[in-house]
Amino acid sequence: MKKLAIVFYYLKYLVQSTSEHGVHSPFVFDLILKVIYNDKEYYPFKNIEVVREQLLTSNQMVNCVDMGAGSKVTAYNTNIEIKKNVGHIAKYATKSVKYAQLLFRLVNYFQPENVIELGTSFGISTAYLASANSKTNVITIEGSPEIAEIANKNFKHLGLQNIQQLIGNFDSVLPSVLKKTDKVDFVFFDGNHRKQATLNYFNLCLQKAHNNSVFVFDDIYWSFEMKEAWDEIKTDSRVKVTIDLFYMGIVFFRKEQVKQHFVVRF
Ligand SMILES: C[S@@+](CC[C@H](N)C(=O)[O-])C[C@H]1O[C@@H](n2cnc3c(N)ncnc32)[C@H](O)[C@@H]1O
Repeated sequence: MKKLAIVFYYLKYLVQSTSEHGVHSPFVFDLILKVIYNDKEYYPFKNIEVVREQLLTSNQMVNCVDMGAGSKVTAYNTNIEIKKNVGHIAKYATKSVKYAQLLFRLVNYFQPENVIELGTSFGISTAYLASANSKTNVITIEGSPEIAEIANKNFKHLGLQNIQQLIGNFDSVLPSVLKKTDKVDFVFFDGNHRKQATLNYFNLCLQKAHNNSVFVFDDIYWSFEMKEAWDEIKTDSRVKVTIDLFYMGIVFFRKEQVKQHFVVRF
């Protein structure tokens, strides 16, 4: 998306977004106060951020296979292997501290039995998802083996034992994961930011979703395609509540809720 368009959508978001005031849904009110605006420093945060710092200062080069929509600083790529600097990837591809810690709080609040993450990268967001509850089984998928290997070292270093790492293209790995699962509690969609791919993964995961499942989409304004995908997801008849935080969108299917779209200042 062109910079000017992002600025436009961000200004629109600033104008439309609200806090918990004026939110009549008790479910969303509680979520805003107890999860989104909760600024408690949970004990795993420090160790994960030390790992992020090490990644950011690393000059190691890794082979990356881009099976997605490229990054904010590199153009589209289709399965071409290129060498990239670890520090550079950590800077541009990893969820920021603020949003990564929100993922932790979401898992901590909803206590899902299982989490699926599309896009491990070096495992920073995975570490937050997995640290929130040692009983939550986190399945994370990454297409670049050398990137996944670094993530694996990070999980070992952090002592995280509730993570199952899978390497391969989401297009083939996700269906096989879903085949072996009878329900999906929580999904973090953070890779392959293309419209059709995002909608395909959404529809696949929906087949195993239930009333209390939570879907989190990263970078919903990253491109026109992502914005279009987000707009389709919002209007999907199976979706009840959505929360737009600009850099992330959260989706709920709770049948007891009135269909409503919230834009929350974060
Ligand atoms: C934005 S990064 C993930 C960042 C990570 N969730 C975090 O915040 O720490 C997206 C990752 O998804 C991977 N990816 C993109 N498209 C993919 C696909 N179709 N199959 C498998 N991996 C893919 C990329 O290699 C990249 O490492």
